[in-house]
Amino acid sequence: MLERIAGLRNEIDVDLDMVSSAEDVERLRLRHFVRKGTLQVLTDALREVPREEKPAVGKALNELRRHAEARFAEMESRFARRSAVRYVDGSLPGRTLLRGTDHPITQMIDRAIEIFGSMGFDVAEGPDVEDDAHNFAKLNFAADHPARDMQDTFFVEHADRQDVLLRTHTSSVQIRAMESMQPPIRCIMPGRVYRNEAISARSLAEFHQIEGLYIDKGVSMADLKATIIEFARRFYDSDASFRFRTSFFPFTEPSAEIDMSCFLCKGQGCRVCKHSGWLEICGSGMVHPNVLRACGIDPDEYSGFAFGFGVERVVMMLTGIDDIRLLYDNDARVLRQF
Ligand code: DAH
Repeated sequence: MLERIAGLRNEIDVDLDMVSSAEDVERLRLRHFVRKGTLQVLTDALREVPREEKPAVGKALNELRRHAEARFAEMESRFARRSAVRYVDGSLPGRTLLRGTDHPITQMIDRAIEIFGSMGFDVAEGPDVEDDAHNFAKLNFAADHPARDMQDTFFVEHADRQDVLLRTHTSSVQIRAMESMQPPIRCIMPGRVYRNEAISARSLAEFHQIEGLYIDKGVSMADLKATIIEFARRFYDSDASFRFRTSFFPFTEPSAEIDMSCFLCKGQGCRVCKHSGWLEICGSGMVHPNVLRACGIDPDEYSGFAFGFGVERVVMMLTGIDDIRLLYDNDARVLRQF
């Protein structure tokens, strides 16, 4: 009998140790402390205990009851208080609402559209899958120009054509704009371009460009300079200086590479400008008369300028992202920062 008492004490203790809610307390009460509960069953068994053992067993039983009831009362009050008062911890941080944002590439394109839009430029688009005429021939690329090489261009297999390809630059959209519109033409043309290049931290086989085109009577190099400088000052939010370096593109004459003093170090030299103080911002030039002619525009009547730049490079300069592949991994930890 003394053994049964010790066993029950142990059992009640274990049950009480595991209590973690008002429901647990109630379950315990129904098991041990009601009229047909474990304690009462054991107390009733005292009747069968031989006379001479009764005092010792009775004492042990009383002790068990006192012990169990005291502990039970403590649990009851602890959990009763918890559930009676709704406890709100005002110092806990709230639930974070995650807000989506546009991809940094989309953000840059939208910003360029907005700034050029304020200067009177519309947005034009063309197909990613192009033909040789729009991507090369009408842009005054000679038939043997190395840019048509298999190394650079993804050609598209076609049952009866050999001139289908993925556009290698957005300059193809210039041609489409001039073919379909009469001057004055003033538009920018953002879009994806494709080149058969090895993928590295600096280059991808698929990226974005923004092309610009302005054709009207009497458009000059001065208009090109003013337009690009105004755009770049606003886009980079910088009071920069600019430099026009002579360059060559088949579709412009003269051609210029435009540099801007580094917005980060102000020309002192830093990591972003590779210690030169200058950032290359775009290729540009006056639209070649052959290009105008190929699109049915009379070069004696009209002139114009064009420019083009890569969006990923701009994003990398402005954000400090130094591996272009991060822009395409869709890693939320990267994208959430913009
Ligand atoms: N299409 C050139 C490229 O992909 C960029 C470019 C340069 C576009 C000069 C132009 C331009 O319109 O006038 O590298």
